[in-house]
Amino acid sequence: MSGLIERYIDRLPFEIGDPIISLGEGTTPLIYACEISERVGARVWLKLEGLNPTGSFKDRGMTCAVSAAVRDGSEAVICASTGNTAASAAAYAARARITCAVIVPEGRIAQGKLAQSLIHGARVIELDGNFDDALRLVRELCESSPIALVNSVNPFRLEGQKTAAFEVHEQLPELAALSIPVGNAGNISAWWKGFSELGVKPRLFGFQAEGAAPLVLGHTVENPETIATAIRIGNPARRDEALVALDESNGLIRTVSDDQILEAYRLLAKTEGVFCEPASAASVAGLLVHGADGVEDVVCVLTGNGLKDPDTALAQGGEMVKCADDLAALEQAVLS
Ligand code: F0G
Repeated sequence: MSGLIERYIDRLPFEIGDPIISLGEGTTPLIYACEISERVGARVWLKLEGLNPTGSFKDRGMTCAVSAAVRDGSEAVICASTGNTAASAAAYAARARITCAVIVPEGRIAQGKLAQSLIHGARVIELDGNFDDALRLVRELCESSPIALVNSVNPFRLEGQKTAAFEVHEQLPELAALSIPVGNAGNISAWWKGFSELGVKPRLFGFQAEGAAPLVLGHTVENPETIATAIRIGNPARRDEALVALDESNGLIRTVSDDQILEAYRLLAKTEGVFCEPASAASVAGLLVHGADGVEDVVCVLTGNGLKDPDTALAQGGEMVKCADDLAALEQAVLS
């Protein structure tokens, strides 16, 4: 299967013959969610973006950002990240054989994402600060250095990520609304760019964690807090584009609490067989809490794979059962 630049080259800022750094991203499944549909009272579909090569939707943007960086002669890329952008940048930079540095908030990055960034050979810098501090600093750094910034302030990131809208439109033309977690607000802006290029207008339902909800509150949040570390962001870089997208789509932006996020996270795993990371479950939590506002077919974007964050899964899942090396004990352990 080819990657998304080859698949959508006529709608992306690339030409045949350009260097393409791809890991076969995109073309992710869209599956129906029976239990959640019943609870919400609408037909709910799940777009499994955690099945991209590094386990998140970031790969769509990163194939474009890193390919463009290579085309422009960059020998290094850098990003601030809550973890997934870092893992994706590290993987694509490794494939391009260029240097990568990632700046992450100290102690607040899920284990899987850290492991990915390190094994791909990125220089991982733990900042004594949050994501917003990290992004401010790397933007300043890039003004005076030739390193390519691959955060979603880079327009190539949005170009790549808009292809998710193309795919969902092919998979479910009757789509009436898209439910999506919002952090730095790049992804919701990219989806809207994709829909706008197609000339379709599904409603956008954006969800932020209660403790990190600058778009809902209408102002920057100084110390954002949430269990969903991927969207622990208080000053979204793509705020203005996201507000336009929400307005033009007759959309809604609302909050969900950490408890509601975790409830949706467990429900997805136990009743749909889908393991996503907590931030991704915000899209489902939002529909469960606030409803689908009368729409019939809604797609929830499950942005990242549950394996990224084993600590949360272990804390939220059941207990292991100890067993002696003995048949009767095993019978007891299995059946009781
Ligand atoms: N879901 C996941 C799993 C994410 O990693 C992110 C963002 C989002 C949702 C929100 O997307 O920022 O475009 O609104 N993660 C970034 C990162 C910030 O550094 O990996 P957004």
